Amino acid sequence: MGIETSADHNGAESSFTSAIIAIEELARIDPSVSVLCDVHNTLVNTVIRKYGTKEQQDKWLPQLAESKLGSFCLSESASGSDAFALQTRARKEGDSWILNGSKMWITNSWEAEVFLIFANVDPSKGYKGITCFVATKDMGIQIAKKEQKLGIRASSTCTLNFDDLKIPAENVIGGEGKGYKMAIEILNEGRIGIAAQMLGLAQGAFDKAVPYTYQREQFGQPIGTFQGMAFQIAQAAIDLETARLLTYNAARLKEEGKAFTREAAMAKYHASVVAQRVSGQAIEWAGGVGFTRETGIEKFWRDSKIGAIYEGTSNIQLQTIAKFIQKEYS
Ligand code: CAA
Repeated sequence: MGIETSADHNGAESSFTSAIIAIEELARIDPSVSVLCDVHNTLVNTVIRKYGTKEQQDKWLPQLAESKLGSFCLSESASGSDAFALQTRARKEGDSWILNGSKMWITNSWEAEVFLIFANVDPSKGYKGITCFVATKDMGIQIAKKEQKLGIRASSTCTLNFDDLKIPAENVIGGEGKGYKMAIEILNEGRIGIAAQMLGLAQGAFDKAVPYTYQREQFGQPIGTFQGMAFQIAQAAIDLETARLLTYNAARLKEEGKAFTREAAMAKYHASVVAQRVSGQAIEWAGGVGFTRETGIEKFWRDSKIGAIYEGTSNIQLQTIAKFIQKEYS
């Protein structure tokens, strides 16, 4: 759980691409476990590694590598895509910050003990008042019930309430008013993680359904050898390859310190389309059995729907890509 965390902080000291591959491989079996690992590594650990002071890194990174789960708390009921309109407020009182507000649809929140919370310390400055705080559950974060969801049901998603939540002044990460830029810069990277999750999911569905098509015979031959199905399988293989290349390329650019925001948005958008398409087809290839809960293929399809929603909806990814095109061509 500390894939990129340094060995000094008890992490694996591996690369970003290693994290991406771990997320992809976990998703081949269970996309819920994958997103738990993804949010913890690509969002929570990365915020502290990139923006934390030495003291903050020494304090939080070993715990996050060894024993405690992290959660990233940005979205609210009225600020999903419009994330910077968040209403959670923080006011300074002596050596502490007092937070009031609530967060919604927070991944990992049921099991997490360490929470990165985005709150506005000065609404008169608009989104330039957004600040990131690190808090622990025992400070008094109220965690409401788990949402009942279509997919990734083993991944917890809860509402959090902060009622005069007291956080020590030293728990501000990256400086007052810096939270909005940190949040989006981290999400730019995180989107490559979700692309990897969706890619692994699609591969997992493919791996389950394709062998079945060579075992199941109808009209005296394996159904996967009928041209109609063989061509669908071939097209799905192309889908997997394009999603994989976009995802690994975005990871490569990030690792080389090059611009990657556009490529990350493309990878996330495309991998979530591929995940829905391939897992949906996989159900059809397995026919009646695919539609039952017997094979687990239908679970991949239910899990795929979230890929177009969290860490920036598909429309947000398209808008991000469109802004780059407009800048280049106008
Ligand atoms: N990269 C870097 N900076 C960006 C950026 C990007 N992709 N998009 C916007 N910005 C910066 C701008 O440069 C600007 O900063 P300055 O004022 O310093 O120049 C600032 O953000 C505001 O820019 P805009 O007015 O263009 O942005 P906006 O307010 O219209 O929307 C946004 C910005 C909220 C980031 C939106 O584009 C977005 O990405 N929304 C989706 C939010 C999201 O991803 N939420 C995920 C929640 S966490 C999660 O899902 C985890 C999980 O459960 C798995």
